Amino acid sequence: MYNITTIAGDGIGKEVINAGIAILDHLDLNINYIEAEAGLETFEKTGTTIPEETVKSAKKSDATLFGAITSVAGEKSPILRLRKSLDLYCNLRPVKSFNGTKSIKPNIDFLIIRENTEGLYCQVESLYENEAIAQRQITRKASERISKFGFEIAKKYNKKSVSCIHKANVLKLTDGLFKESFYKIAKNYPDINANDYYVDAMAMFLVTKPKEFDVIVTTNLFGDILSDEAAGLVGGLGLLPSGNIGDKNGLFEPVHGSAPDIAGKNISNPVATILSIAMMLDFLKEEYVANKIQIAVENVLKHGKIQTPDLGGTNKTNEMTTEIIKELDNL
Ligand code: NAI
Ligand code: MG
Repeated sequence: MYNITTIAGDGIGKEVINAGIAILDHLDLNINYIEAEAGLETFEKTGTTIPEETVKSAKKSDATLFGAITSVAGEKSPILRLRKSLDLYCNLRPVKSFNGTKSIKPNIDFLIIRENTEGLYCQVESLYENEAIAQRQITRKASERISKFGFEIAKKYNKKSVSCIHKANVLKLTDGLFKESFYKIAKNYPDINANDYYVDAMAMFLVTKPKEFDVIVTTNLFGDILSDEAAGLVGGLGLLPSGNIGDKNGLFEPVHGSAPDIAGKNISNPVATILSIAMMLDFLKEEYVANKIQIAVENVLKHGKIQTPDLGGTNKTNEMTTEIIKELDNL
C-alpha cells in the first residue's frame, strides 16, 4: 500500500487533483490518500500558507501530489517550504512535444534536472545603504548528488548524453566547483557522453538545436530560467509535469499555477497533473503503470478528438479525464 499526501491547493489545483485521483483510482493500485492543506484559502482560514501538519504528512508519505496554490504576498511559499523541509534536491522537468498539439517545435524529448536547494536561491541577501548583495552557495555535496542523479536517469532511460550548464568562465569559483563535481561523477559513467555549455549559449541552443540534448544538469537559477524557456518550446502550461525528488521523498506537481482566470469552470487541462502522476508512479517503481499512463495521454492528444480550450477545443476537464481513462482500458 502507498500513502500519498494530496495537496490540492487553490483554483484549478482542486480540479486537476480530482482528475488525477480519478485516474489513480482506476488503476489497480492500493493507495491511501491523506488530504493536506496549503495556499491562499488555507492562509485565510489558519493564518499560515502551509500548516505544520502538511509538512509532516508529506514527510511521512511515500510521495506527495501537489495541485497548485495562489501565492500570498509576503508569506512563505508552500512549495519552497516543502522542498527545503523534505530535502527535495532535484527538480526534474521532462520537456517533450506531443503529436497532435500545437507544439512549437516537434520531436523534442529531453530532461532538465535543476539543483533545487542552493545556488542564488539560498536567499542570503544583505542590504546596505546604496548596495544590495546576494550570496550564491554551491557545495560539492549538492553538485555531486545532482550530477549523479542526472547520470543515473540517463542510464535508466538509455539517454546518450548528459550536459552540464554553467557560467564557469565568469563565476570561476562557484560554477568552477559545479563543473568540476560534474566531471568527477561523469567518470563513473564511461558509456554516457558528458559535455558542458555556458548558460547563455545554451539559452540559444534550446531554440536553435533542442533535439541535440538528452539530459541537462544545472544550478538553481539557471535551471529555473532554462526550464521555462524549454516549456515555451513545447507550448502549453497545461501539458507540463514536474517532480521534486530527494533521497527519501518525492513531490510531484504540474508546472502551472492556480489559474484564477479559468478556475471553477471545469475547463482546465488535467494532462500536466496526470503526467505528474506518471512521474510519481515511476518514482514509486511502478514503471509499468507509469508508462501506461504516459502512452494513454500521448494517444488521446494525438487523436485530438477531445481537447480542452487551451488545446484549441471546447471539452471540459472531466471529459478529457474520461477519455484518458477509456484509452487506459484499451491498452
Ligand atoms: P498560471 O500557471 O496559474 O496561469 C497562466 C496562464 O495559463 C493562465 O492564462 C491560465 O489560464 C493558463 N493555464 C495554466 N494552467 C492551465 C491548465 N492546466 N489548463 C489550461 N490553462 C492553464 O500562472 P499565473 O496566472 O501567473 O499565476 C496564478 C497564481 O498561481 C499566482 O498566485 C501564482 O503565484 C500561482 N502559481 C503557483 C504555482 C504553484 O502552485 N506551483 C506555480 C506558478 C504560479
Ligand atoms: Mg519558475
